[in-house]
Amino acid sequence: MQTEYLISPDPSEERGRQGLAHAAEIIRRGGLVVFPTETVYGLGGNATRADAASAIYRAKGRPSDNPLIIHIAKPENAERYTVTSALYYRLAEAFMPGPLTVILPVKESIPKEVTAGLSTVAVRCPAHKIAHALIEAAGVPIAAPSANLSGSPSPTCFAHVKDDMDGRVDMIIDGGNASIGVESTIVKIERDETLTLLRPGFITVDDLHIVTPHITVADAVTGALKPGETVLSPGMKYRHYAPQAPLYLIKADNITRQKYYSAQNGCFAILAYREELDALAAHPAHPVLYDLGPEHSPEIHAQRLFTLLREADKGRFDRIYAPLPEKEGLSLALYNRMIRAAAYQIIEPND
Ligand code: TXA
Ligand code: MG
Repeated sequence: MQTEYLISPDPSEERGRQGLAHAAEIIRRGGLVVFPTETVYGLGGNATRADAASAIYRAKGRPSDNPLIIHIAKPENAERYTVTSALYYRLAEAFMPGPLTVILPVKESIPKEVTAGLSTVAVRCPAHKIAHALIEAAGVPIAAPSANLSGSPSPTCFAHVKDDMDGRVDMIIDGGNASIGVESTIVKIERDETLTLLRPGFITVDDLHIVTPHITVADAVTGALKPGETVLSPGMKYRHYAPQAPLYLIKADNITRQKYYSAQNGCFAILAYREELDALAAHPAHPVLYDLGPEHSPEIHAQRLFTLLREADKGRFDRIYAPLPEKEGLSLALYNRMIRAAAYQIIEPND
């Protein structure tokens, strides 16, 4: 398939609107369009068409038991496709448009190919101008997983989507770098109006507490599933984001971590905090160093993580090391992504 490219369309200008109208037409007739959002790029198709949903799974190489998020232009549009509640509207008021996905009971207007047969559907209203204009112009909800090949890190810039999706979709829209860099926070509204956090993201547990005190964090957010345990979010059971070389997360204070690195040899790479770089540059084994950004800037780690994992994947390393993030605030999202990328391999050096 020949992929068309639409470069930085500006929805506030006629030319940009024309390009997006063309993209919207592709979506309406069942084609696939990769588009930017503030979290990561999405691989979009018409969420009201079963054939479009099937095409998304094919393009991504994704198992079809892992359901898709439907993207809407306005929070109230969820009425057509889901059973909403007062808590949904409180969440919408606080966080939409923005990087929050809410799981709600699904209505029949959404085909089972989108929901993988579940009785619920994931709904998100992105804040990105291009995403918003595209959904509005399409006039239908857009089903979109992250636009990476299944198993790779989510794409956060044009080069990533071009690498993964060229020739697999009808169109790719370039919208520059994703401002957040990790996928949306996912919450499920339970029958008793409490929230379960299924995937941490830029909207943190503390942020959600503004809306309700009744929040539980799904076990799978911070740990591996035990055999026989049920998954609340089907996506959690797949190994994800993993580079070719094994990634190990070091659980230690800064000094102990440095000592651990000093004792290593061979061909390895380190995802390091900015403050560690000078010391590591003097390491006799010359590890390849990737700059995560300043230690106390999780926003920057989030923007860089997936790019660095893709970069590290290209190197031929025996192993890759990174510090284990905290489980607080935005760092919980990094913890969640990194333990998956590391296939849960955490090293706790004794100093
Ligand atoms: O930021 C994002 O959320 C991006 C952008 C493109 O919007 N999308 C994204 O989609 O990350 P995806 O498909 O890569 O991740 C969606 C996750 C999957 O882990 C899936 O299992 C889960 O949401 N999910 C979807 N529908 C669900 C449902 N009804 N119940 C529980 N989990 C669901
Ligand atoms: Mg994904």
